[in-house]
Amino acid sequence: MIPLYAIFGLLGILMVFLRYSLWRRNYSQLMPGKRPWFFNIFGDLIEIWTAKSVPLGIMELLRKRAELFQKEKIFCIWAAYIPFVFFVRADVVKELLKNNKLNDKSWVYEWIQPLMGKGHITSSYEKSKPRRKALVPCFHSDILRSFVPVFSNEAQKLVNVLQKETNKDFIDIVEPVSLCAVDITCETLFGITIDALGNKDLKSPESFSRASKIYMSKIISPWHWIDIIFRNTKVGKEFHYNCDELQKLTRNMIEEKKKRYLRGEKATQVRKHKALMELLLDGQELSEEEIEEEMNTFALAESSRLYPSVSLFARQVNEDTKINGYTIPRGASCVVCTYYLHRDPEIYPDPEKFDPDRFLRENRINIPEYAFVPFSVGPRNCIGFKYAEIESKIIVTQIVRNFTVSSLDERDKIKLMLTPTLNPHIPVRIRMRSRLDQSY
Ligand code: HEM
Repeated sequence: MIPLYAIFGLLGILMVFLRYSLWRRNYSQLMPGKRPWFFNIFGDLIEIWTAKSVPLGIMELLRKRAELFQKEKIFCIWAAYIPFVFFVRADVVKELLKNNKLNDKSWVYEWIQPLMGKGHITSSYEKSKPRRKALVPCFHSDILRSFVPVFSNEAQKLVNVLQKETNKDFIDIVEPVSLCAVDITCETLFGITIDALGNKDLKSPESFSRASKIYMSKIISPWHWIDIIFRNTKVGKEFHYNCDELQKLTRNMIEEKKKRYLRGEKATQVRKHKALMELLLDGQELSEEEIEEEMNTFALAESSRLYPSVSLFARQVNEDTKINGYTIPRGASCVVCTYYLHRDPEIYPDPEKFDPDRFLRENRINIPEYAFVPFSVGPRNCIGFKYAEIESKIIVTQIVRNFTVSSLDERDKIKLMLTPTLNPHIPVRIRMRSRLDQSY
């Protein structure tokens, strides 16, 4: 005979299942998207699992839905019973980012905390406001200008490293460029030189890349959402190992910096700039002056349109909310999908064409504000966007001045993946040739 508690247990599970399935059915009728079959526990995730690889599966699912629901401008993907609503047109992105009830980051950012820390990228709006206020002055134009020699110096080191690769048929440029970015970040943020580019043993970019990939696979594996299960799986252990390695590096640098600061060792004659951390420790009040910069940004803007490094960012819905006439339920995540937003054919005709002229002053006025958001817009936009712009301009300029660069892989053959930053699925084969070398 079946014990009574087992019968009640099963009935309980059945009730929960029916309740959530009914809830999902009701809300899926109020938003564009494929409606999962009532008994389909995993919702749209099944489409990702049946793909060749998870990152490609995610990209493919987004592509299909973005095409299918182009007119509706938003679409819902159900990860089991959790709705993720994707925004792919400027007017709906505007409605989302202007809504001051939607300033909290999505609940999935919590999982990235072991990787990024509990800093304000992942924290709630209320918690992030005072921190943002303290950080913003550190990105003042005068301070950014003082970083320019660091950017140039590190970019020159990158050129020296790449110079040695010009005899190779092709290379993967991602690793040296990432290491150069690590060096610049450590120097400008902490005032500490780590020479990641010259130190092949430093594993931080590898750790970051591996942890980011596991993070994406966690989103599509509901059983990994339960922390105790995830921590005890092989990938969970690998995720935390890589995050700990990164955290260790950051912690050591902060401690080192604090020690030096307490010893009174501030910016010296040799190092003319102040590290961002020194500025925070000083507690300087700096006015919020607009940065005026007349550098040619068109080609970089067009690159960020086609390949926005942050291709997805998400907000949490804390109460049922109407956007573009659709009801988005409490508990949903609203995801701005810049990859497809930046490919809206009505705003960018022939969207796959690389055409920097789209960003010429006379053309740019035709691009609506929310149609181009590589750094987001509004109270939670990227505070480091000018820093990132100047840094990338200097690195790209140094590379282009010294080398001719060509890809052995055609653009339309390169498959991309979201991890959650945008990356090629397999390394792109880049051929570098020195401009000084006439022999090729
Ligand atoms: C190419 C480089 C970069 C890109 C494409 C980028 C893009 C973005 C985007 C799209 C967001 C919004 C994320 C969200 O709403 O969830 C963001 C937020 C943020 N970014 Fe960046 N970023 C870049 C570099 C940087 C750098 C160099 C720094 C600092 C040194 C920085 C600091 C931040 C911070 C602190 C936030 C959180 C703002 C908040 O939540 O209030 N970013 N970034």
